[in-house]
Amino acid sequence: MTDPLVALRPWEAPEVTSWGRLPMNAAVRRPEARCLDGDWRFQLLPAPDAPLGDVWSSSQVPGAWTLQDTGDLPQYTNVRMPFAQFPPGTPAANPTGVYEREVEVPGDWVGRRIVLQVGAAESVLLVHVDEQPVGISKDSHLAAEFDLTDVVRPGSGSVVRLTVVKWSDASHIEDQDQWWHGGITRSVMLYATDPLHLADVTVRAGRSGELRIDCTVRDARGALPGGWHVSGDLEGLPLTQDAEFDRVNAEDERVSDFLGEARLHTTVADVRAWNAETPELYDLAVRLHRPDGTVADASHHRIGFRDVEIAGRDLLINGERVFIRGVNRHDFHPLTGRTPSGDDMRADLVLLKRFGFNAIRTSHYPNDPALYDLADELGFYVVDEADIESHDHAHEIADDPRYLNAFVDRVSRMVLRDKNHPSVVIWSLGNESDYGAGHDAAAGWVRRHDPTRPLQYEGAAKLDWAATDDASDIACPMYAPIEDCVAHALSGRQTRPLIQCEYSHAMGNSNGTLADHWAAIESTPGLQGGFIWEFWDHGILQRLSDGKPVGRAGTGLYGGGVAAPGHRWAYGGDFGETIHDGAFIADGVVFPDRTPKPALYEHREIAAPVRIEGVRHEGIVLGNHQHFRGLDWLAGQWELSLADGPGLTAPARLPDLPPGETAAVRLPFELPRDGGEAWLTLRVTTAEDQPWAPRGTELCLPRVRLREAAAREDSPADQPVEVDDEGLLRHPLLAAAPTLCLWRAPTDNDELGGIAARWRDWGLDALARTVVSVRRDGGRTTVDAEYAGTTGVVRHRQVFTAVEGGIRVDEEAELPDEFHDVARVGTVFETASGLDLLEWFGQGPWESYPDRSAGAPVGHHCLPVEELFTPYLRPQESGGRHGVRRFTLSAPDATALAVELDAPRQVSVTRFRAEDLTAAAHHDELVPRSGCVVHLDAAHRGLGTASCGPDTSASYLVPPGVHRWSWTLRGGRAAGGVTPAPAGD
Ligand code: GAL
Ligand code: MG
Repeated sequence: MTDPLVALRPWEAPEVTSWGRLPMNAAVRRPEARCLDGDWRFQLLPAPDAPLGDVWSSSQVPGAWTLQDTGDLPQYTNVRMPFAQFPPGTPAANPTGVYEREVEVPGDWVGRRIVLQVGAAESVLLVHVDEQPVGISKDSHLAAEFDLTDVVRPGSGSVVRLTVVKWSDASHIEDQDQWWHGGITRSVMLYATDPLHLADVTVRAGRSGELRIDCTVRDARGALPGGWHVSGDLEGLPLTQDAEFDRVNAEDERVSDFLGEARLHTTVADVRAWNAETPELYDLAVRLHRPDGTVADASHHRIGFRDVEIAGRDLLINGERVFIRGVNRHDFHPLTGRTPSGDDMRADLVLLKRFGFNAIRTSHYPNDPALYDLADELGFYVVDEADIESHDHAHEIADDPRYLNAFVDRVSRMVLRDKNHPSVVIWSLGNESDYGAGHDAAAGWVRRHDPTRPLQYEGAAKLDWAATDDASDIACPMYAPIEDCVAHALSGRQTRPLIQCEYSHAMGNSNGTLADHWAAIESTPGLQGGFIWEFWDHGILQRLSDGKPVGRAGTGLYGGGVAAPGHRWAYGGDFGETIHDGAFIADGVVFPDRTPKPALYEHREIAAPVRIEGVRHEGIVLGNHQHFRGLDWLAGQWELSLADGPGLTAPARLPDLPPGETAAVRLPFELPRDGGEAWLTLRVTTAEDQPWAPRGTELCLPRVRLREAAAREDSPADQPVEVDDEGLLRHPLLAAAPTLCLWRAPTDNDELGGIAARWRDWGLDALARTVVSVRRDGGRTTVDAEYAGTTGVVRHRQVFTAVEGGIRVDEEAELPDEFHDVARVGTVFETASGLDLLEWFGQGPWESYPDRSAGAPVGHHCLPVEELFTPYLRPQESGGRHGVRRFTLSAPDATALAVELDAPRQVSVTRFRAEDLTAAAHHDELVPRSGCVVHLDAAHRGLGTASCGPDTSASYLVPPGVHRWSWTLRGGRAAGGVTPAPAGD
C-alpha cells in the first residue's frame, strides 16, 4: 500500500506547508521532556518514493547527514539552485533520509497530551509513528510539533520514523548563500502537558515598567472546563489578572468554548530597562490552573522591559537613537554544519560583544532558539529574519499564489516563536526574494499580530528608500556606497531609518573603508549603522587523504584559524561538486574556528565606548560614546610610546561621564622632552567581570599623537656600496636585491571586483626589468631601470648612498598613465634565512592596510615572522602593517637587519612571494620560504570590499605619475648566524 504522505508528493507542492502540525507558540515550558537526540537507525534513499531497503546504518541526531559519511556530500552555491528544475520542481535524484528509533513513552504520561518536537529538518519532514502517518512539515529552521496522544501508548514503546526529503518546492525558497545539507539539524524531543494547556503566551513589557501578558488556553480534550484561571509572578511578586478578562472562559459570551484568553498585568516601579548595554532581565512565571486551583501548565520566561519605535527617520530603543553595530550571523559550525551547541553560540556572542558589536541579523532564517536567550542575556539587538530566500527564481516566486501560504507561514511562525524576546527589535521578511504579494501578505500578518516592532525587508525598500507604503519600515539596503547613504540622508526625502542590512563584505583580506562608513554614520543624522556581511568563514573541516568532511571527529583538529596538518577548510568545489561558487562561502570576520580576523580589531576600535576626542590645554578630552551607560564599568591605562625612547605607562582615572558627554582629564605624567615622535594610547579594559568578558579584558585602544617625528639626517660614510652590473644591490643579509614592485597577490576583492584582471592585462604580475644605466660616483651609485608591462613602461631610479652603518636607498618610480590604478608602488627584497623576529615602530600589532588602519595603535611591536601572516582560506595579499616608521628583523644570535623609512609606510614581512600566494588555492598548499619576503611600499592600494559591494574610495587608490620614497638599510651578521637563502626560483 502506498504511504499516503508519500502519495501526496508534498515535496513538489508549495501549497502544502504542513499537515498535522501544531500551531507555533511562545509558551516556554520546563517539561519532563525526553530528549531523543543520539544515534537513530538511518537509510539514505535515492528518492522520496524509493522503497525502503533492509539495511540500516546509523546517523546522529541532530546532525547533517552530508557530514556523516553517507555518500551525500555538502554542496555550496550562492544564487543558483544546485539543480535545473524550475519551482516547484525537484530533481529525480533526491536524497531522502529515513530516521527511525524506538521511543519509550513513560507510563505516568497516561491522560497527558503527548507532543513530539522536531527542532529542524531540511527540507521536508514526514512523520510516522508505528507506520501511521502523523504529519508533514516544511520550514527548515523552525521546530515542528505533532500531537502523538492518540498514536502512542504510555508505558510501551513506539517506533518513530522521521523521513527527511532533501530537495523540494521549499528548497526554492531556502536558496540562501550557504552550504546545502540534508538532515535533522536541531534536537528532537518528546514531552507531555496536561490536556488543559497554555496554547500561547504573549509578553509586552515597556520601559515605563508596564507589563501585560496575554495567554491563550486550550483543552486538548475538547471544550474548556469552567473555572480555569491563570496566575503569574514576576521575580516572585504576583501579577494581577485583568478584570476584563478574568471570567473569560466561564460566562463571557465573547469567547469561544474551546479557546480561552486571559490577561495578567502589573506595573514595575523603578524598572531597570533592557538595552544591549545593560540587558536587565526579570524572571516571569505564568501558570494555568484547573478549576480546583492545581497547576495544569506553566510557562517560564526571562523578560526585558524596553521600547522600540520609529520616530521620523530614527529607530529608537527606549527613546534613544542607538547606533546599530551589527553583523550577519548564520548558525554554522565547521564540524556539524548547521548545529552549533549552546556553548558554541555563547562563544560567538561573547566574541561579538568583545569586538564592539551590539546587533545581529539572523541571516537568513530563524536561528537556534538558544541564540535568542543568549542575545537577551548578553545584550544584542536582533533582526529576526524569516526563512525565505528565493534568490535564483525570486521574481517568479514573489507573486506565485502557490507559494503565498509558505511566505505567511514562515514569517508568522517566526513571530509566534520569538515575540517574547526583548532582544528581537525588528522582524525581517527574508532575503533576496524580489518583492511581491507574498511579502505584503506576510507583512500584513506581522503588523496585525505584533504592532510593537518595526518590520524590514530589503527587497521592498530597495525600490525607493524614501517610500512610505511598502512592506519595510526601514530602508535597509545592502552594500550601498557611503556617498549614496549620506546623499539620501541629506536629500530632505528621507522618510525612514537607513540601516544597511548588509555592508562591508568580509571576504578574505577585506573590510576596507569601515572607518569611513562609521565616520559618515556618526556624523549624519538619518544614518544609524548596519550589519557587516558576515560573521563566519563557512569552511568545513576536510580530510585531505580521502576528501571527506571530518564531522564531529574533528574536535581539536584546528586552531589559530588553520586546520591541522592533513586537513583543510573546504569551500565550494572541494567536495567534488561541479556546480559551486568557490571561496565566496569564506566571507566572514572570523575563521571557521572562530579565530578573529584582523578586521575585527578595526571594528572594535570604531565601536569604542570611550574615545579620545582631542588634546586641549586642560588635558586629554575623553568622550563617552555609549547610549545608556557611564564609564564606571571600564578601567584605563595610559601608554606613551616614543619613537626613540622608553615608553611610560600609568593608570588612567576615567571620569564620571554620562553617555554622549565629554570631559578633559590630566595626564599623570609629563611628555619627556626627548624621544621624538610620541603617541598616547588609552588601553581600556573591563573594570569588573562582565557576563561576556572577565575583568581586564581589553576593549579598545583610543590614541592620539602628542608630537610629530623630527626630521632625520643620515651622516654620509665612506664604505662602498656593492651594486652589481645589473644595478642590483649586494648585501650579506639579502637573498634577493631590492627591486620595484607594483603587484600584490590579488585579494578576493581584487579578483571579484575585476581589478586584478586589469593588473594582469597590464602585465603588472610579470614586469620585465631592464637596467638602463649604473653610475658610480664616490660613495653613491645611481641605477636607472625600466620595468615593462604589456601596455606601459615604468621608469625607476634607485640611488644607493653609503651612510653611517648602512646604505641609504632613495627611489623614484614614474608610472605611465596607463597604470592608473595599481596595487602598490614600492620595493621588494628577500632576506637570508634565520631572521625570524620582527620588531617595528608603527601601527600594530594587527595586520592593517591604508583603508583599514583604525584598529592598530602606533607603538613598538614585536612578533615572530610566522605570526605576521594571516591565513586567509584562499591565499592572497596578507600580513601587511600600515604606518611603519622602522623595523628590525633579527635572528636569535643577534644578527639583525634594520630598515628606517622616510615616512610611515605600508610594510609586509612574510615567507611568501606574491606569486606563491597567487598560485595556491588553499592555505595548506603554501610552502614557506626560509627567508623573508619584505615589501616597503611608497603607496599601497586600499582593500575596499569589491568582492560584493563598493571598491575602496578614490583617496586610497595608487595614482600614476611619480612616486618617491627612501629607506636606510643597516645590518650585519654576527658570527655563525644567518645563512643566505637560495636566491631564486
Ligand atoms: C548578499 C546576500 C548574502 C550573501 C552576500 C554575499 O547579497 O544577501 O546572503 O550572498 O550577498 O556574500
Ligand atoms: Mg542570496
